[in-house]
Amino acid sequence: MIKEYIEQNKQRFLDELFELLRIPSISADSANAADMKNAAEFVKNKLISAGADKVEICQTAGHPIVYGEKIIDSNLPTVLVYGHYDVQPVVPLELWDTPPFEPNIRKTKVHPDGAIFARGSCDDKGQVYMHIKAFELMMNTNSLPCNIKFMIEGEEEVGSSNLGKFCIENKERLKADVVLISDTSMIANNTPSIDCGLRGLSYVEVEVTGPNRDLHSGVYGGAVANPINILAKMIAQMHDENNHIAIPGFYDDVLNLSDAERTELNKAPFDLDEYKKDLNVAEVWGENGFTVMERTGIRPTLDCNGIWGGYTGEGSKTVLPSKAFAKISMRLVPNQTTEKTTELFSNYFKSIAPASVKVEVRPHHGGEPVLTPIDSPAYLAAEKAIETTYGKKPIPTRGGGSIPIVALFEKELGLKSVLMGFGLDSDALHSPNEHYGIFNYLKGIETIPYFHKYFTEMSK
Ligand code: BES
Ligand code: MN
Ligand code: MN
Repeated sequence: MIKEYIEQNKQRFLDELFELLRIPSISADSANAADMKNAAEFVKNKLISAGADKVEICQTAGHPIVYGEKIIDSNLPTVLVYGHYDVQPVVPLELWDTPPFEPNIRKTKVHPDGAIFARGSCDDKGQVYMHIKAFELMMNTNSLPCNIKFMIEGEEEVGSSNLGKFCIENKERLKADVVLISDTSMIANNTPSIDCGLRGLSYVEVEVTGPNRDLHSGVYGGAVANPINILAKMIAQMHDENNHIAIPGFYDDVLNLSDAERTELNKAPFDLDEYKKDLNVAEVWGENGFTVMERTGIRPTLDCNGIWGGYTGEGSKTVLPSKAFAKISMRLVPNQTTEKTTELFSNYFKSIAPASVKVEVRPHHGGEPVLTPIDSPAYLAAEKAIETTYGKKPIPTRGGGSIPIVALFEKELGLKSVLMGFGLDSDALHSPNEHYGIFNYLKGIETIPYFHKYFTEMSK
């Protein structure tokens, strides 16, 4: 029944997703505020037409949240579906083979059946829309086995700063048994997996100031500190010769895995040569003593996301700049916290600054790391659902990315989450030419109803 429904409605499922993908809902850019509203409106209308009740666009201090629900019986379990309709900025635009908001299908090596190329196709519009279509399917085939609530936000890509307040103010409305999220990746289409952890995030912007104005680099150069030179050296001091993070106390709270757990984690199939080839790098890089899988899954990291200052225009300008800036992010693992990590960073950064410059550290958004249980009814339901549709039991893995609100679901709503994602790491999330496999999209729609079915059965 599920398969037939998808087969009959496949083209419409794609057409509707394309419509959503055409809306440039970039949350970071205030120029797209109207598009954010349009995307929320689109999600709202599709929830209504799929059969949801009490569908509402909830205003926040930032971009709106779309809420909707279908309560069939208060004695049955309730699944809260969370996702986001906002997307990342599209720069550098010239690296896109086709425009980011003109979705189109192309075949790739990994997606021989075709992939949808558009910003947000995988992260997260495509994955959110699977849930709306799976809900429609369950409604139209009279097979919705439990209560379902939807909370689709528009600020995930900018740190979900207003969603926490919404959750706290709507505890009653958001009452559920579990949160179901499709916003992560699988290992491969023939190697299904479920992320059972997400890294946290500390994000800071630093400013290094040298002289009070830009100077002639010949007249003053060599006698006055150049903030770009200094900043570069300070950034280089963030890692030691083993690529460990050099900030004192940085690893103090890191939850170390046992040898057995590490062995288990490294059992997941991973082809280092393929990885290097895909990225066109001669060698990987990272903390000594850990594998690639561990470096991205269970170890904290520090990366410079952007750096600027001085003259970057055409030709040359001989200038000793007054200021230099960088955006630096740290990915955190259990039991590190955003607040403490940001403070450790800030203290260290200030301590290594020479007296010839002034430095400022400005914290941005953050998010706490999470682990999701792999023995809960919800995990087991996701496992069985994927096994049913992929013919293989999914492998538990760790996701390197962050979804800042997930820790808050646990803290404020007392809810655990299941990260049943259907994307692939190679789908170019946040990059030019983001795409999402048609196989993945349809497989997601097929798998989700089984999750609800098994979760309802296992909750009895
Ligand atoms: N969906 C991603 C997170 C993700 C992707 C987790 C792949 C695991 C595997 C999410 O939209 C995201 O990009 N989050 C941001 C955090 C945010 C504060 C900007 C991130 O991880 O950089
Ligand atoms: Mn996402
Ligand atoms: Mn994202």
